[in-house]
Amino acid sequence: MKIAVVLGTRPEIIKMAPIIDEIVNRDIELCLIHTGQHYDKEMSDNFFRDLEIPAPDYNINVGSGSHGKQTGLMMRGIEEVLMDEKPDIVLVQGDTNAVLAGAIVASKLHIAVGHVEAGLRSFDMTMPEEVNRRVCDVTSSMYFIPTEESAINLLAEGYSRKNLIITGNTVVDACFRHLEIAKKRGFEEESLADLDIDNMDNILTLTMHRAENVDDKTRVTNIISALKELSDMNIIFPIHPRTKKTLQDFGLFDELNSLDHIHIIKPIGYLDFLQLTSKSTLILTDSGGLQEEAITLDVPALTLRYNTERPETVTAGGNILVGSDKDVILENANKILNDEEFAQKMKNAVNPYGQGDAAEKTVDAIQEFYDGGLLNIEAPEDIMTSFERKMALINEDVTVKDFEEKNNALIHMVFDGEKMRFPSDELNLKEMCVTYDEFQ
Ligand code: UD1
Ligand code: UDP
Repeated sequence: MKIAVVLGTRPEIIKMAPIIDEIVNRDIELCLIHTGQHYDKEMSDNFFRDLEIPAPDYNINVGSGSHGKQTGLMMRGIEEVLMDEKPDIVLVQGDTNAVLAGAIVASKLHIAVGHVEAGLRSFDMTMPEEVNRRVCDVTSSMYFIPTEESAINLLAEGYSRKNLIITGNTVVDACFRHLEIAKKRGFEEESLADLDIDNMDNILTLTMHRAENVDDKTRVTNIISALKELSDMNIIFPIHPRTKKTLQDFGLFDELNSLDHIHIIKPIGYLDFLQLTSKSTLILTDSGGLQEEAITLDVPALTLRYNTERPETVTAGGNILVGSDKDVILENANKILNDEEFAQKMKNAVNPYGQGDAAEKTVDAIQEFYDGGLLNIEAPEDIMTSFERKMALINEDVTVKDFEEKNNALIHMVFDGEKMRFPSDELNLKEMCVTYDEFQ
């Protein structure tokens, strides 16, 4: 079996690293394709180093540009590689332009697409990431899904349960594997060593790069005015290149950089960043990955967004959405800083993203699909069967698998009282309501 992995940005490298490890350790053939969307050493090479993954076999070097140009160049480059390499499956991760490009190209070449971190929805189509993840899901054959909630998003859109695999999120694998290594190694980045982070209290780690925040002068100005008032905190701000550029363009960078309690540093490596976040009192971010890492590392998070495709972190109690509203940011930050009971409750929020075995579950499932011939994407030769869409209230003890076998059916949705459940094979359906297709 040959697995191709397409990645292009910092979070994809981090979240695919545990899967790449798993592929290499099982001696499965790997073809690693970097789109080159992130190209600075601090945004790319340092993560291959810190996470100890092999260098890419191909780099398409697309660089920065508009969405159309970037995606188009990626598609051209990925297509050439895939036509040559002919992998059994192409894995893409998350919601970047690499996901869009990789998924469209592979599916048109009739190569199976596996979407890692599938099923997330912000329900905000103004976000480029929402477009990317939805389009990718339409073209995928296997879905590696972090939580039951995200799996239910896909069921609600009509995807077959047979292709949905709840794995947890590989961000937990990466965190667990690397935090102890990081702590033993200590800080490497000079800017952090100079700040003596080990002996610093009241650390607030800040990251922001989301287009809807940093490209909008009003929003970014509001966020900065809140930061100025958080002068009891030591704000460490490893700045994303996009953010540095827009703050400079808006004429906001120099003033922010001159404040004593705000330390703007360049983006830092993963091992340094893990140490920094795990020592933080509070994380303020608009990053997707950081919302997940915060709850994994038991650090309260305030998210600088009006919606999130990670609502589990909010319902679990570890994350609060504060938008870019100065008063809401300050009110919640001060509550976390001054109300110990409140802060403790946030820290104790249960991590919804699994036990750190997402990569293992992902590669297990790929192997199973491969062995069962399910990665072969071929035009069907069976004449299409007709089916009826039905609903039933189940009175007897019967599992999903048994119900489907008995009725020649495929279950879509399961309602346990008011709560929707994911129809895993072994779920007992007694007293639950189901919708299903019954084949003739
Ligand atoms: C991209 C992803 C976003 C993800 C983020 C992770 C898309 C649509 N966006 O956003 O989902 O959360 O990566 O960080 O795929 N730049 C550099 N050096 C680099 C990379 C970028 O200077 O190595 C600067 C360039 O000015 C560039 C800007 O950052 O124009 C934005 O980069 P781009 O890759 O287009 O989007 P991100 O904001 O990084
Ligand atoms: N990160 C890092 N160094 C930094 C900032 C972030 O290693 O200076 C890591 C962080 O641990 C997380 C990932 O980068 O795993 C998040 O990436 P980003 O915020 O760029 O993208 P998103 O997750 O929003 O797509």
